[in-house]
Parts: sequence; C-alpha cells; structure tokens
Amino acid sequence: MTEGNDGWTAVGTSEGWPAADGLLAVTSPLGPVLVWGTPDEPKGAIIAACPHKTAPLVAAEVRDSAVTCRRHGVRYDLATGEPVDLGRLSYPPPGLMMLEMQTRDGRIEVRRPVSPPPAPPLSTTSGDSCDR
Ligand code: FES
Repeated sequence: MTEGNDGWTAVGTSEGWPAADGLLAVTSPLGPVLVWGTPDEPKGAIIAACPHKTAPLVAAEVRDSAVTCRRHGVRYDLATGEPVDLGRLSYPPPGLMMLEMQTRDGRIEVRRPVSPPPAPPLSTTSGDSCDR
C-alpha cells in the first residue's frame, strides 16, 4: 500500500466485503479506514476513528447510511460525516474525517480531500473605504 504521485493510496480490494450495505475495514498509511457501500457500489471512505474521543469505528454498526460509535452512541451520517444523533452527549461533536475514494482496476483507493486554494487577500488600495 503506497501513495501514488496523485495522492491516491491503494488500501485493498472489495474481497471480503459484506454483500449488503456495510463497512469494509482496511489499513492504510492514513491509519485504519472504513469504506462503505457494496462491492459493486462503493460509496465513500472515512478515517475509522470517532471524531469525539477517537474511539475505533472498525466494529461500528452501519444502518440506513449512518454509523454509530459504540462508546457514546453518536450516530454519524456517512454521506455528510455530520452527527445526526448525539447519543449520550449533550453537545454535537465534530464530523467524521471523510476521505475521497475511487476504485481503479479492482483496487480501492483513498486520499485526503484536496483543500481549496486560499482566498486572495483583500485589497487595501481600491480607493473604497469604510473609514469615512
Ligand atoms: S468516542 Fe465516539 S461518541 Fe464519544
């Protein structure tokens, strides 16, 4: 499992994936990763650690396109990464760490999302001013 020049890392194949909607746990240089969907239709990938207190999500339950952390019961939408049920928490934790995913030649590949370029600095020489 090595990272290519384009940032994609092969993390395995769909072999061993549950036929129904489920999670496939794979190891990667990014750490444990969960790929979800079906072998014919992989849908996404996440870092397999709960963003609340980093509990492992490898053995987490997936139902209705959401994964539930066993430690405090927070349920996360796998499509958006956002918490949809706070479980035993009284405040919303951060969202899941989402990865980009693709399949190429039967391999599952993931990479960290490419950040958008920073916004250009605001111009101070335009002549418009709010100081007057
Ligand atoms: S560690 Fe996952 S909800 Fe708290």
